[in-house]
Amino acid sequence: MQIIDGKAVSKAVKQSVKAECEELKAKGVTPGLAVILVGDDSASQVYVRNKEKACEECGFYSEKYALPASTTQEELNALVDKLNNDDRINGILCQLPLPSHLDDKEVINRIDPIKDVDAFHPVNVGAIMIGDYNFLPCTPAGVMELIHSTGVDVSGKKAVVMGRSNIVGKPMAMLLLHENATVEITHSRTQNLSEITSGADILIAAIGKAKFVKADMVKEGAVVIDVGMDRDENGKLCGDVDFDDVKDKCSYITPVPGGVGPMTISMLMKNTLTAAKLQNGIK
Ligand code: GUN
Repeated sequence: MQIIDGKAVSKAVKQSVKAECEELKAKGVTPGLAVILVGDDSASQVYVRNKEKACEECGFYSEKYALPASTTQEELNALVDKLNNDDRINGILCQLPLPSHLDDKEVINRIDPIKDVDAFHPVNVGAIMIGDYNFLPCTPAGVMELIHSTGVDVSGKKAVVMGRSNIVGKPMAMLLLHENATVEITHSRTQNLSEITSGADILIAAIGKAKFVKADMVKEGAVVIDVGMDRDENGKLCGDVDFDDVKDKCSYITPVPGGVGPMTISMLMKNTLTAAKLQNGIK
């Protein structure tokens, strides 16, 4: 069994983004990212801080908008409109989840698709569906990078994606399909779950249930990718996969933390760079 080092792969992606950023700066373009955070969710605050740090590392311009939980939809919409029209800002990211009185769909739909570095806007989601896209959603794209780092060829393999969220499960299945995997998606109503997951050459867990995936659900020699960010019974950060139980059964596995998490941010940097190039007519 080999542990996939998400931090190392993420660092390599950021280094290549930084190098490209320097080339852009020589042409007078500095990629700019605006991050919007509403309310005081502590996990979101950590994510946003990490995104700012990554911008610094890559040489990007960044703006952070930390708005109070009492922010109205109109105020949030007005901020998105302002950022859509700001030439220094190439990418806009509104950290989800939003406080319950705000409509995340309305915000996502309002972000100019060419600045939608999360790839959540229906235009970008549709573009991914037909395989003709500018941006890939950060977490699924990061998972693909991790799979590529193992050298395992996805083509023709059986891939099972556990979870059907719009942010991870659905686009994840699509990216695996683009690389010619035979893909199955499981969810909370799936019957005979273990039977399905234990047939997977590549197993992606994105269900948000601590240590849910056990050894008897995994095929011998599988590549196991854990997208979970959960807390165990002691409040310690863990994934959807019971790492200690599963590790000796698979060929490659991602740890939590240090697996998928760092990749999501690197792919966001990559998307912001792409956005800056697109908006400035640079190939
Ligand atoms: N909340 C959890 N994951 C994400 C993400 O990838 N993007 C945004 N905007 N919010 C999130």
